[in-house]
Amino acid sequence: MTVDQAPNRPLQLTADGQLRHFLTLDGLDRAMLTDILDTADSFIEVGERSIKKVPLLRGRTVVNLFFESSTRTRSTFELAAKRLSADVLNLDIRTSATSKGESLSDTLLNLEAMASDMFVVRHAQSGAPHFIAESVTPGVAIINAGDGRHAHPTQAMLDMLTIRQHKGGFEGLKVAIVGDVLHSRVARSQIRALNELGAAEVRVIAPDTLLPRDVESLGCTVEYDMQKGMKDLDVVIMLRLQKERMEGALLPSEREFYRLYGLDQAKLALAHPECIVMHPGPINRGVEIESAVADGPQSVILDQVTNGIAIRMAVMSMAMGGQMSERNQNLAGGEQA
Ligand code: CP
Repeated sequence: MTVDQAPNRPLQLTADGQLRHFLTLDGLDRAMLTDILDTADSFIEVGERSIKKVPLLRGRTVVNLFFESSTRTRSTFELAAKRLSADVLNLDIRTSATSKGESLSDTLLNLEAMASDMFVVRHAQSGAPHFIAESVTPGVAIINAGDGRHAHPTQAMLDMLTIRQHKGGFEGLKVAIVGDVLHSRVARSQIRALNELGAAEVRVIAPDTLLPRDVESLGCTVEYDMQKGMKDLDVVIMLRLQKERMEGALLPSEREFYRLYGLDQAKLALAHPECIVMHPGPINRGVEIESAVADGPQSVILDQVTNGIAIRMAVMSMAMGGQMSERNQNLAGGEQA
C-alpha cells in the first residue's frame, strides 16, 4: 500500500464515533478536533501542578516504538503517558531484535504478548500505523507519531492548540506554511486541521520543486514568491528542509533557499504585526529561519513543544477510553447473546 494519500478509514473510530486509534486527521470532523483541543486544555493545568499526575491510564502499559529519530515527539509522548500514570516502555529499535531481522509484525506480536495496551508508532513508511491498527489485538490502541510523508496528526493538533491559545480561534485566520511541503507529513496534517477548523485561508509558500503535484487539492492556495505570500498573515509556519527524504537536487543551494524562503526579520515585517511564528522543529537556524526570529517576540515555537504534552495526554486518554467502551459494549452484547 502506498499511503501518501491513505484511505479515509473508520478504523480509528468506534461504532459510536469515539476515538480508538489516532492515525490521521482524515475523517475526523470539527467536533472531534475541538473535543481533542478542549480535552488538551484541561490537561494544561496538570502540567502546572507540583505533582503532575492524573490516574487516567493507571495500570496501562504504553510502548513507544520509534523507528525514526525524534526529540520532541518521543519525549512528550513519554511525559504524557507518565502524567497519565501509565507504565511506559521505550523500545530502543537500534538494540532491539529488529536489528537481527525480526519483522515489524513479529516484534508487535511479542510486545502484545507482554499485555501492552497502546503502541505509539513513528515509522519512515507511510501507512505503517494503519497497517498495525488493522492487525492488532482488539483493545490495543495505536497512535501515529509520524509516518513517512503521510501524517503527523498529534503535531498538527498541538499546532492548532497553540494557534487557538494565541489567536482565540480559527475564524478569519490567514495561515501560511512555508518551505519543504513536498516531504512534510506535518504540512499535510496541518492543512487538513486548519480547513476543518475553519481558517479563512491556508497558503503554501515554496518553490515548485518542493510542492507535491496537485497541492491545491489538499485545501490550500499556492504562492511561489515569499515577499507576496507574507502579506496579511496571522500565522506563519516554517518547515524544515527534509534532506533525508530528498532524492536528487531539488534546491540550487541552502544559501539561495534561505535568501528566497528563509524567514528573516525583513520578511516577517511584511506580515500582520501580530503574526505568530511557528515551526514543528527541529529548526535549522540560518537555513529556514533566522535566529532573531526563532527567538524573537513573535515566536511561539517553544509553546508548541509544551502543548505537545497536553495534546498527547488528550489523544492517549481518549483512545484508551474508546477502546474500553468498545470492549464493554462487546461484553454486554456477548452476555445478551
Ligand atoms: N516535530 C517533530 O516531530 O519533532 P521530532 O522529530 O523531534 O519528534
